[in-house]
Amino acid sequence: MVGAGYVGLVSGVCFSDFGHRVVCFDKASEKIAMLEHGEVLIYEPGLNAVLARNVEAGRLTFTTDLTAAVDGADAVFIAVGTPTRRGDGHADLSYVMAAAADIARALTSYAVVVTKSTVPVGTNRKVAEVIRATRPDAAFDVVSNPEFLREGAAIDDFMKPDRVVVGVESDRAKGVMGDVYRPLFLRDFPIVYTDLESAEMIKYAANAFLATKISFINEIAALCERVGADVKSVAKGMGLDGRIGNKFLHAGPGYGGSCFPKDTSALARIGQEHGVPQRITETVIAVNDLTKRRMIDKVLDLCDGSVNGKTIAVLGVTFKPETDDMRDAPSLTVIPALVGGGARVRVVDPHGAREGAALLPGVDWLDDPYAATEGADCLLILTEWNQFRALDLKRLASSMTHARLADLRNIYDRADALAARFIAYDGVGRTPQ
Ligand code: UGA
Repeated sequence: MVGAGYVGLVSGVCFSDFGHRVVCFDKASEKIAMLEHGEVLIYEPGLNAVLARNVEAGRLTFTTDLTAAVDGADAVFIAVGTPTRRGDGHADLSYVMAAAADIARALTSYAVVVTKSTVPVGTNRKVAEVIRATRPDAAFDVVSNPEFLREGAAIDDFMKPDRVVVGVESDRAKGVMGDVYRPLFLRDFPIVYTDLESAEMIKYAANAFLATKISFINEIAALCERVGADVKSVAKGMGLDGRIGNKFLHAGPGYGGSCFPKDTSALARIGQEHGVPQRITETVIAVNDLTKRRMIDKVLDLCDGSVNGKTIAVLGVTFKPETDDMRDAPSLTVIPALVGGGARVRVVDPHGAREGAALLPGVDWLDDPYAATEGADCLLILTEWNQFRALDLKRLASSMTHARLADLRNIYDRADALAARFIAYDGVGRTPQ
């Protein structure tokens, strides 16, 4: 496994749990040293335990020596980052191509070189070209095997996938991939075999479609607020139609994370480049930006037009619960605007402080929601961590100077808030009163 980031580490750990011998390579020696001691830098439920039992069983090892990792491998996975390139929105493929050349130099026998990183259409053929150019004698096939796991549910998503997508064009490589994923096929998880380009496209299309559902419901939510509808009921009524489905229809402060923002932007660029602009995806991106900014207005409105000199308690800063990931989190748009508007901001997040401290200067980090709301003028819920779902609203309201609640994940109701003596409540997609 080349690259021990989120996808590489989770995939490597899970493959070893299938019974395979897995060597995870990463250039970052501190990361590898920590992993060797069973320490995982990211917060992902269940990962530590699965990692530990496979290290113990001797199936999972870590190294900074790529040659040793690749030596004799049946499959070499590329799971390095494909960040958005500065300036043009394209996926930056320099890490993927560098990995391909390094792998080529290290190959000792036939291997399939599998791309797990999310890469634009055509990348796998370029990977093959790079390997061929670096090592004309190498025996290999390339395979596209995009990953669909979600942060916070990564182990389960990997072990019980809706489907496995394998873009493969030789029987030999198909045989190797069949062996790699055999434990899943034996349990009847579907596998989609396809050509390289379709596999690459499936990943972008799937993420852009999910992002579309979110931007769609967020735009409907904005309209619900004007016409007196409740977006929760609207989403429920829509989602029960099996053709629509109830998932990814939760209105909120906009999507974030390492995938949707990056992949929608890359898909938009690919479309422009091929003269087939992806207008829906472009609009989805624009609506998401507007949604994040609309949240600032909500807090301002709730605070009578200004947050200057006011104390605001924020619950949750990660882009979603059960992760410590702050990438493109709505909090990174909302909180700086509040600080810039003169607010004193106190933040509580079970796992966000490590990364968040540097990204959100000028805020105070607290451990306890009740301490954070003491004397505050507004309570703002940005991420729906479970521990924020059953707060004692009465206790919160009574300790606040002005008990206002901006519930941007709709985890409470206006009636509950008012019964607990909050003076004002605003959710997303619910008519303000
Ligand atoms: C997403 C996809 O769900 C995975 O299938 C995919 O493998 C992954 O990207 C990737 O490409 O690697 P992830 O970014 O971990 O996974 O998180 P999601 O659970 O999809 O949530 C993304 C964002 O959408 C979060 O900010 C979340 O709060 C938001 N969201 C999600 C909503 O606002 N409403 C919803 O109904 C669902």
